[in-house]
Amino acid sequence: MKKPGRNDACWCGSGKKYKKCHIEFDERIEEIEAQGHIVPDHSIIKTKEQIEKIKESAKINIAVLDYVAEHIRAGISTAEIDRWVYDVTTKMGGIPAPLNYEGFPKSVCTSLNDEVCHGIPSEDIILKDGDIINVDVSTNLNGYYSDSSRMFCIGDVSPEKRALVKAAKQALQEGLKEVKPWGFLGDMGQAVNDFVQSKGYSVVRNIGGHGIGLEFHEEPWVSYVSKRGTEMLMVPGFIFTIEPMINMGRPEIYTDEENGWTIYTQDGLPSAQWEIQVLVTEDGYEIISY
Ligand code: MF3
Ligand code: CO
Repeated sequence: MKKPGRNDACWCGSGKKYKKCHIEFDERIEEIEAQGHIVPDHSIIKTKEQIEKIKESAKINIAVLDYVAEHIRAGISTAEIDRWVYDVTTKMGGIPAPLNYEGFPKSVCTSLNDEVCHGIPSEDIILKDGDIINVDVSTNLNGYYSDSSRMFCIGDVSPEKRALVKAAKQALQEGLKEVKPWGFLGDMGQAVNDFVQSKGYSVVRNIGGHGIGLEFHEEPWVSYVSKRGTEMLMVPGFIFTIEPMINMGRPEIYTDEENGWTIYTQDGLPSAQWEIQVLVTEDGYEIISY
C-alpha cells in the first residue's frame, strides 16, 4: 500500500491532511493484512465523488430493469428486450456496458431456464409460458459503471421453478446480511452457500461477482462458495456485486461452443440468478443497483 506523508494530502481526495483523514483507516487495514488476510488496495476504494457518479449510473440501470419488468411477457423475443435496454439506456445518456464488451454483440444478457448466464438476445428466442429468465443489465455513464439483474417468471411457471427463483433471491439477501466494514467477503459467500445447500440446490463455483465502479469488472473476483473469515476484507467505499448463480441440480456448467458466451447447466436443469451492486458503508451497506 502506497501511503502519503503525514502532512501530505490524503489519497482519498478529501483535501485534508493524511494524518487527519485516512491514516488510522490504513493502519487498521495493515494490521489485518499482517494477520495474513487479503485486503483492498486504495485503487478499489471509492471516494465520495466517485460514489455519487456511480449512483447516477445506477439510476439508469434501475430504470432500465423497471422498464423491462413492466413490459416483459410471453410472445416477445429476447432481441426485443435488447432493444428496450439500448433505447432506455441511451435516452438517459448512458451506454449499455455489455455492448462490444470483449466482443459481446448485444446490450444485455438474457438467460432462460437452463442457461446460467451470458445468454445472447436473439430474434429466434421467443418467451413462452413457463419460462424463467434472467435479464442482466449493466450501464456505463461517463465512465462510471453499474450492474444488476433480476429474474422474471413468464406466465404460468411450475412450482419447482418458482421456488428456485425465490431461493436465488433469498440467497442474495442472506449474503447481504454479512456485508459490513471489517468483515470478509467469505462471510457473505458462506452465508449464500449455506442457505442454498439447505434448500437442496447448488451454487455455481467457477463464475462469480466482481468489484465495479471505475471499470465494469474490477478486483476482486467474488466467490459465493467461499468460507467465513477468508477472501478480501470489506472496508467503507468498497463496491462489489452479489450475484450468485443457483442451480436446481448440480453446480457444473459448460460454455456454448458456437457463440463462446452462453453458459448452461451441465445437467440441463434450470438455474436462477439475481444481482445487486453493493457499497460497504461506515456502518453496514447500501444497495446501489438492483
Ligand atoms: N453483467 C455480467 C456480470 O454480472 C457481465 C456480462 S459480460 C457480457 O458480470 F459481456 F456478457 F455482457
Ligand atoms: Co456483475
